[in-house]
Amino acid sequence: MLLYLHIPFCDSKCHYCAFNSYTHLHALIHDYMKAICRQFEREIERFELREGIFETLFIGGGTPSCVAPSLYDDFFAQIKPFLSKDAEITTEANPNSASPKWLEGMRERGVNRISFGVQSFDEKKLRFLNRAHTPLQAEEALKNASKIGFENLSLDLIYGTLEDSRSLLKHDLDQAFELPISHLSAYHLTIEENTPFYTTPQVRTEDDDLAYWFVDQIIQRGLPQYEISNFSHTPSLHNMGYWKYKNYLGIGTGSVGFLKDRRFYTHHDPATYISNPIFRKEELLTTQHIKEEKILLGLRSLVGFDFSLLNTQEKERVQTLIDTKKLYILNGRIHNPNFFLADEIALYIIL
Ligand SMILES: C[S@@+](CC[C@H](N)C(=O)[O-])C[C@H]1O[C@@H](n2cnc3c(N)ncnc32)[C@H](O)[C@@H]1O
Ligand code: SF4
Repeated sequence: MLLYLHIPFCDSKCHYCAFNSYTHLHALIHDYMKAICRQFEREIERFELREGIFETLFIGGGTPSCVAPSLYDDFFAQIKPFLSKDAEITTEANPNSASPKWLEGMRERGVNRISFGVQSFDEKKLRFLNRAHTPLQAEEALKNASKIGFENLSLDLIYGTLEDSRSLLKHDLDQAFELPISHLSAYHLTIEENTPFYTTPQVRTEDDDLAYWFVDQIIQRGLPQYEISNFSHTPSLHNMGYWKYKNYLGIGTGSVGFLKDRRFYTHHDPATYISNPIFRKEELLTTQHIKEEKILLGLRSLVGFDFSLLNTQEKERVQTLIDTKKLYILNGRIHNPNFFLADEIALYIIL
């Protein structure tokens, strides 16, 4: 089972970002960190969770590095018995707030993996995205994390923006691969509602050649693609858990939990969440819904999906795709060699 903790605070808001995060609510941090403990305590009872059940913890945001390490103490103390012995414990971090002190503090508390939101090493592109850091800060944060002893380091890049050219993206990768990373996430810019970019959708470019070229460059430089946007020889267990359709517990405002055939949602608004962290809305998933999700997730990653999930007509369509080399079958599981085509293929199979 996976554990996710959401931190909804940010120092600034990026022009593309629709995540549940706020720049004006830092005064709530203390109360928020207490509320997550109340929610966790309640979930343990509701899910009847046993000790050692969580194989991963992922602290995401928002910006987890907006919150001082000591403020995580109560939460870490509470979850400790429920983490498995070698649990992967990841935190996201922003280069401008992940100071050496913060990194050390998180390491002392058991974090063993960091995912830095770098997005680009180009000054102008960072300003265009409204990032709060410089390329140098990103470089220093990664190097500091490595010096402090983190071996499992990742960074996020965004591509497919109006600023991009092959030479800019090549420079981004040159810089990234100079750093001590074992994992890289490359996200194609998505235009989200209620973001500044929503009013200027032309900032996203639809250049398939550039996207294929960029992914190929990452692979050629030595990090294999294990999922549409993720590259590593040592995939994040937490990410992989989602693709494998594992159960997860979501802690924090706007977080989502999933158990067997149900999803659970907390309050989206931080103040409302703090006043009632144990509220949850339940959604019952149909067998068809679960099957479609397993197919889509499987096609977007190395995980693939079980051939036996399909009905007769779907099996025939998959066979056509196997015959034309769009898919292949291995040990009874269907795999997709081109993750960019995942949505199209899924639609064709399910109709
Ligand atoms: C949950 S976000 C937050 C991480 C952290 N606060 C940061 O910004 O560095 C994780 C990653 O999602 C990606 N992301 C967020 N919104 C996106 C969008 N609209 N299009 C593409 N990538 C996006 C960014 O690369 C970001 O680093
Ligand atoms: S990308 Fe990260 S820093 Fe930027 S607004 Fe979103 S969560 Fe905050």
